Amino acid sequence: MKKIILDCDPGHDDAIAMLLAWGNPDIELLAVTTVVGNQTLEKVTRNALAVARIANITGVPFAAGCSRPLVRQIEVAPDIHGESGLDGPVLPEPTLQLADIHAVDLIIDTIMAHPPGTVTLVPTAGLTNIAMAVRKEPRIATRVKEVVLMGGGYHVGNWSAVAEFNIKIDPEAAHIVFNEPWPLTMVGLDLTHQALATPEVSARIAAIGTGPAKFVVELLEFFGHMYKQAQGFTSPPVHDPCAVAYVINPNVMTVRKVPIDIELTGTLTLGMTVADFRFPAPADCHTQVAVKLDETAFWDLIVDALERIGEV
Ligand code: BDR
Ligand code: CA
Repeated sequence: MKKIILDCDPGHDDAIAMLLAWGNPDIELLAVTTVVGNQTLEKVTRNALAVARIANITGVPFAAGCSRPLVRQIEVAPDIHGESGLDGPVLPEPTLQLADIHAVDLIIDTIMAHPPGTVTLVPTAGLTNIAMAVRKEPRIATRVKEVVLMGGGYHVGNWSAVAEFNIKIDPEAAHIVFNEPWPLTMVGLDLTHQALATPEVSARIAAIGTGPAKFVVELLEFFGHMYKQAQGFTSPPVHDPCAVAYVINPNVMTVRKVPIDIELTGTLTLGMTVADFRFPAPADCHTQVAVKLDETAFWDLIVDALERIGEV
């Protein structure tokens, strides 16, 4: 079993990442933590709890984390995720109670309570909680198995010409996270723009015929509409579950080791994930980027997770 903590800001693709993590038999979901990002902390936390109800996620602590970035003002993404952060489907009232602990402490406690090298951190949002956690308890940097995050892009941006949303909204936090010594896989836009929810994909998910599958179809409908309007995509890129998929089966994508740092001072390039491909990666390089997705294997994982979740 692969033990993960999912740190997210649901968010249409975060919601699908939650369902993949919950439905996949090789993943043990230790905790779900939320952070300001696609919408305010209050909204994304409510969304996470609503998704928990839709998929009947039980026995997993949910905790809310940071309500603003380390340095910058809050930037949310209503043009992609709507005013609620999860517009489209009608969301049920959450029934799950939040754990009575800050997400940063839940992350630290969970990692420290498990044997070294067993917990993978999967951030699919701004990196504020993760940066705070490693500053508060530096031992987690060598205790986690690895960090597999959705964020960045070595040749492409979406929140500026060269910066991706999760990195750009809290570049200082990203700088901290990319410079800690933990093994870090950046599943960035280069990869996630290959995970397009085409009409065929939606039809496959609709054919499952369950409530959670219908929820995903409705998410994809809204997401597709917004992505077409905001960024001209014919089908929406479903970013966040790609990071979970890599944890489940690293063969679902190819990766390449490369040193990466975060631009903090550029006037045009703030938040750029600068990957230095000039030389072979040095022996002590702890970062890698995802390059090429096996699309069929990826969508098979999503469909399989939804089939296993079944009707709730
Ligand atoms: C990332 O930004 C958010 O809007 C999505 O949920 C995803 O994590 C893509 O740039
Ligand atoms: Ca996200």
